[in-house]
Amino acid sequence: MNDENNTNPQSQISNIRSATFPLLIACARGIPPYVKAELITMGFPIVAELDAGIETLGTLTDAMRLNLCLHTGNRVLLELDRFTARQPEDLYQRIQTLPWEDIIPDDGYFTVTSFINTPAIRDSRFANVKTKDAIVDRIRERTGRRPNSGNERSGTVVFLYWNQGDAKLYLDTSGESLSRRGYRKIPMLAPMQETLAAAVVSATGWTGEGNFLNPMCGSGTLAIEAALLAQNRAPGLLRSNYGFMHIKGYDDEAWQKIRTEVRALPKRPFPGKIIASDIRADAVEAARQNARTAGVEQLIEFEICDFADSPVPKGGGVVVFNPEYGERLGEEEQLKPVYRGIGDFFKKQCQGYTGYVFTGNMALGKGIGLRHSRRILFFNSNIECRLLGFSLYSGSKRNKTDGATEPQEAPVEP
Ligand SMILES: C[S@@+](CC[C@H](N)C(=O)[O-])C[C@H]1O[C@@H](n2cnc3c(N)ncnc32)[C@H](O)[C@@H]1O
Repeated sequence: MNDENNTNPQSQISNIRSATFPLLIACARGIPPYVKAELITMGFPIVAELDAGIETLGTLTDAMRLNLCLHTGNRVLLELDRFTARQPEDLYQRIQTLPWEDIIPDDGYFTVTSFINTPAIRDSRFANVKTKDAIVDRIRERTGRRPNSGNERSGTVVFLYWNQGDAKLYLDTSGESLSRRGYRKIPMLAPMQETLAAAVVSATGWTGEGNFLNPMCGSGTLAIEAALLAQNRAPGLLRSNYGFMHIKGYDDEAWQKIRTEVRALPKRPFPGKIIASDIRADAVEAARQNARTAGVEQLIEFEICDFADSPVPKGGGVVVFNPEYGERLGEEEQLKPVYRGIGDFFKKQCQGYTGYVFTGNMALGKGIGLRHSRRILFFNSNIECRLLGFSLYSGSKRNKTDGATEPQEAPVEP
């Protein structure tokens, strides 16, 4: 598939329905370990681990399956070619040698997106235009017709990665990001990206044993993703459009077969409860409707209440908070008592649970007033965030030494 291993990109591309390609599962920084775990569970090889992605190998049919089933990846990029390019003209020349007429319908619509970090050009739009021109010129030359192009990701999507002299061309088989599952019709305030929420749930280790509590649920993303993960439900079943559907020779029969197989997988029953609550009635209503759209409403209990009054059933589990973290001046001060209150709630009411707080503000995180036992790095857009974990012992530990009844804080992990 590339210069290094001497496979021929032209013939690979012409055989796109059967050939094997490098597949890059792109994700946000901090998320690769969770993508890697999913790929291993699905039986895919791990070829490379990157800052914002995991590389594996597979066919176009494998790419379809990954689009349907991955919880934590944002895009499935199928690598068509990799080469050296110093100047935009090198890019144009190489791209024109590829048989685009075999993959982009000449009456179709395509988009070029890119990541560019090269001294050869200042404006990434120029590289996109060069790429688009090379594709259109090639198709027109071979077929006498030309596809339309634009910025919507609703048709075929070509992704160019150009870092210094290294260029790679991909088909973005996802089109729109996989975080757009299609269930969040009502987003509410500062909703968490669905793929990030799935990674946060995975990081807590909750798989359905014990309870999953999500006070401050907002639009319900964490609770919905927890339900999808616990039941082993494919999050992509709701989406009706993917980039791979706009590749010439797209095999709808193969896609329907994969969907049927995945849908027929037994839904894993889980003994724990999922409880989502928020102080705002409209947020709880939005969360309920979003869960209904996602097909998991019956798996989640909803409550309208202040987090301090949210139910904590016996049996332990995890309790996950995603409070606001105050990006504007003055907000941090107002949020201090909220974070302190979360710490008090953990101490007084969550014995036997592991508490988690996802925040982009470590100063506020410290205000929780407990020593965290885990601190996991994530990124929300470009904001560096932490998932702080607190082991909340059931009280017996301290009882044995000083007779106090409050849960003890966990020792800090090395
Ligand atoms: C950052 S948003 C949560 C976003 C959520 N993770 C999502 O994906 O939609 C914080 C939520 O906390 C709720 N909230 C604020 N103060 C609260 C309180 N005292 N008790 C319960 N919920 C509260 C807000 O109504 C808001 O929905």
